[in-house]
Amino acid sequence: MHRIAVIPGDGTGPEVVREGLKVLEAAAQATGFCYETTTYDFGGERYMRTGEVLPDSAVDELRGFDAIFLGAIGHPDVAPGILEKGILLRLRFELDQYINLRPVKLYPNVDCPLKDKGPEDIDFVVVRENTEGLYGGMGGFQYKGTPQEVSTQVHLTTRFGAERAIRYAFDIARKRNKMKQLHLVGKRNVLTFVHDTWWRAFNEVGAADYPDIKREYAHVDATCMWFVKNPEWFDVIVVENMFGDIITDLGAMIQGGMGVAAGGNINPEGVSMFEPIGGSAPKYTGQNVICPMAAIGAVQMLLAEIGEEKAAERVEQAMVKALGNGRIKSVNAGRMGMSTSEMGDLVASLV
Ligand code: IPM
Ligand code: MN
Repeated sequence: MHRIAVIPGDGTGPEVVREGLKVLEAAAQATGFCYETTTYDFGGERYMRTGEVLPDSAVDELRGFDAIFLGAIGHPDVAPGILEKGILLRLRFELDQYINLRPVKLYPNVDCPLKDKGPEDIDFVVVRENTEGLYGGMGGFQYKGTPQEVSTQVHLTTRFGAERAIRYAFDIARKRNKMKQLHLVGKRNVLTFVHDTWWRAFNEVGAADYPDIKREYAHVDATCMWFVKNPEWFDVIVVENMFGDIITDLGAMIQGGMGVAAGGNINPEGVSMFEPIGGSAPKYTGQNVICPMAAIGAVQMLLAEIGEEKAAERVEQAMVKALGNGRIKSVNAGRMGMSTSEMGDLVASLV
């Protein structure tokens, strides 16, 4: 029996989570696993009603689940940062979900903005470190509100944190068995402390324990260029938190858009949280027009993580079949040729 916590969250989160859960149910029926869900109402509405972002008891309660399925966090009527830091980042940190796994995969029949690039060119995985860097929260103000104001935001990096992300990424490169190649992405020509720690960890770990995996390095700015020009060069990428945040939005675009981009906040030894990475898309809220494919992709990743590999595979095949059956006009909100719930029904029927 798998116990899954569900946090639909803000904006269009609940709409896409509903479709993800439909597909989860179809996968359970098709492959015969058992699960139960518990839904939590954390998000902007609850915060405005009660003043509470995330009760302390919630984190411990969530620790007891096998996985968490999250819709989206971010509400137009709540100041930026309160919900993002108070819910999403707090859960990532306190549950020590030190990997943010973001596959960039262009499925057949999904429009790609890159000229002359197809599914054979765009299929790589970004392993984003998820608990350190500029997200670590170190820093502060001096003389705030005066002309002499000083602010700092420390790029917190530990050898331990870099190394565990690097090992995870090497393992994936080995498991994928595709190009057997791992790119470290950084900015080691300028950020000569932090990226030197990453660089040495990358090379030492690689040489000692992963001699079968080819090591490559790219600066983050150049990486953005290659994502557009030669995405086929990438197999697995490991990257620190902030750069990983930025390049995975670009990655989402070349795989067809936010409507299809899924990710997992992973603690390989604990409880992991899966989400469509596109955010709460407030302007589409309640219209039943947002693409649920990313949320369905998050369910697929969740299933793989809890050991239901067969079910995960069926969900992915159902997504591919649905995208190929001619009825889906686009994976962009409002232009899908069908509603959010119809797309969920379609994928569920094909599992
Ligand atoms: C993401 C988001 C978050 C991040 C925000 C909402 C805090 O952009 O998951 O990529 O920066 O990690
Ligand atoms: Mn982001």
